[in-house]
Amino acid sequence: MKKKRILITGGCGFIGSHLAVDLTCQGFEVTALDNLSRRGSEILLQQRVNACGAGFIRGDVRIPEDLRKVPGRYDLLIECSAEPSVLMGTKGEDARYLLDVNLQGAINCFEWARERRTPVIFLSTSRVYPYDKINACRYQETETRYELLEGCPGVHPDGVSAEMPLQGVRSLYGASKLGAELILQEYAFQYKLPAIIDRCGVVAGPWQLGKADQGVFAFWMAKHYFRGPLNYIGFGGTGKQVRDLLHVQDLADLIGTQARILMNGAAPFYGEVFNAGGSRFSNLSLFEATNLCARLTGNAVAVGSIPECRPADMIWYLTDNGNTGEIFDWKPRRAVKEIFEDIFLWMRENEAEARKIFL
Ligand SMILES: NC(=O)c1ccc[n+]([C@@H]2O[C@H](COP(=O)([O-])OP(=O)(O)OC[C@H]3O[C@@H](n4cnc5c(N)ncnc54)[C@H](O)[C@@H]3O)[C@@H](O)[C@H]2O)c1
Repeated sequence: MKKKRILITGGCGFIGSHLAVDLTCQGFEVTALDNLSRRGSEILLQQRVNACGAGFIRGDVRIPEDLRKVPGRYDLLIECSAEPSVLMGTKGEDARYLLDVNLQGAINCFEWARERRTPVIFLSTSRVYPYDKINACRYQETETRYELLEGCPGVHPDGVSAEMPLQGVRSLYGASKLGAELILQEYAFQYKLPAIIDRCGVVAGPWQLGKADQGVFAFWMAKHYFRGPLNYIGFGGTGKQVRDLLHVQDLADLIGTQARILMNGAAPFYGEVFNAGGSRFSNLSLFEATNLCARLTGNAVAVGSIPECRPADMIWYLTDNGNTGEIFDWKPRRAVKEIFEDIFLWMRENEAEARKIFL
């Protein structure tokens, strides 16, 4: 039987390359399209995308012609390309690159899919939720973290639900992703284009070439492994801000199921939004991350303290996965300890590559 074909835009990024490997192993014919703008994406191209036998096209989602040149018919598009920095634009700098990639680039991908009647899975983010409302909730400070005491509509101790009202501010990154979500929903409705939107919380795992402003837990581990400087920034500078954490393989399991459903036309999805995060099952504060990293690496790093918050930072975020689990028979299976162990083992096995990226 002819293999189903999947195009992954941003396919040499952390999530895109993981999906390329996972879906290729499952017997799909995968092509990754990427402009290799992310630091380290050429390493993921060589060691992950090429190594698993997936195809590669160098292309830029901002340029419709680059997409048009992709040869042949595809059964699914997974749109993972992005400039994912939540800090971009917060220091008064020009943020048009972020908007061009995340908004216009995404629209170009949806247009490519519309012309070919190819179903779409779009990787969105929990950053669409307004952080000013989340930060304004009431929190209790414990020895190692903040915990939510009193939420607001859509925000409760077990997480932020997809029902949270969206008025408020969310960063240019979050706004660009929300804009792309809304356009995709219109495409799904107006053009009957099958589409699923996954709003992911923090995703982590091996091969994440993290930076302070994106992929922070891999970055935190690297700074312990290679003994680099670290700071707790914001919310008093004690590292008690909390995030949930989803193992990239758990995300791949969810997307694999969604991919099969969309490609088989088994159930109609037209722009529905699904939260996907580690949830209460897998979450930690930065302070707790420091303890875990120190234990795994054997290196204790003195972490500095900068009490002032950076713009767009959030004191607490857990995902309420809502009906995602029920609909796709899915739940996160790998919790914080396993995620950190996997990152550590990957760093140890690939020390030379990791050194190039993180030092
Ligand atoms: N990693 C997370 O914790 C997380 C959380 C929520 C949502 N997401 C979303 O998941 C998706 C993938 O994130 P990631 O962590 O893999 O990020 P990443 O930066 O590792 O991957 C993005 C990829 O897109 C490529 N890219 C950037 N601009 C491009 C362009 N103009 N044309 C083609 N390719 C381009 C980059 O080179 C990179 O390989 C993004 O849409 C992001 O918003 C990620």
